[in-house]
Amino acid sequence: MKKVALTCLTASLLFGSGMALADAAASVEYRQSVFKVVKWHMDSLGAMARGDVEFNADAAVHHARQVNAMSYMAQEGFGEGTLGGDAKPEIWSNWDQFAGGMERFQEVSGALVVAAEEGSLQALRPAVGQMGQTCRTCHDNFRN
Ligand code: HEC
Repeated sequence: MKKVALTCLTASLLFGSGMALADAAASVEYRQSVFKVVKWHMDSLGAMARGDVEFNADAAVHHARQVNAMSYMAQEGFGEGTLGGDAKPEIWSNWDQFAGGMERFQEVSGALVVAAEEGSLQALRPAVGQMGQTCRTCHDNFRN
């Protein structure tokens, strides 16, 4: 029993405070990497939406799903005490608003997946536009 309790304690120390103690430089690299992946997939969707490349329904679903998956990974790169990169201090002084922006990122990219799954350029276009607007809103508020 004692051993189990100790293991749990160790685990909670590792995973509980691990986030708060995250090395700032590593966190900056992590979140910038996540956003690079987001950009890669959004660029492809944007090119399709603008008509620069031919619409491909399967590719659109693929790219939308990757953006949506990343939207669940970005926030953990912004642990306490990880100011750096192009992140503004307002992220931490205004955490609820920032976290709300992350939630919106998840919702809107979820809607992007649904729109892509409809399989038409007409459905995809406005969803890509809405996604782009969501990126810009957060960048305007929280990115240098
Ligand atoms: C809730 C806030 C938020 C949302 C939503 C958001 N971003 Fe960002 N993004 C940031 C912040 C903050 C940074 C700066 C991170 C840093 O440099 O530490 C950033 C950085 C970036 C970067 C630069 C990465 C690098 O190489 O340094 C790209 C590209 C990017 N975002 C693309 C996007 C795209 C595309 C979307 C929408 C699909 C998006 N972001 C949505 C907050 C957000």
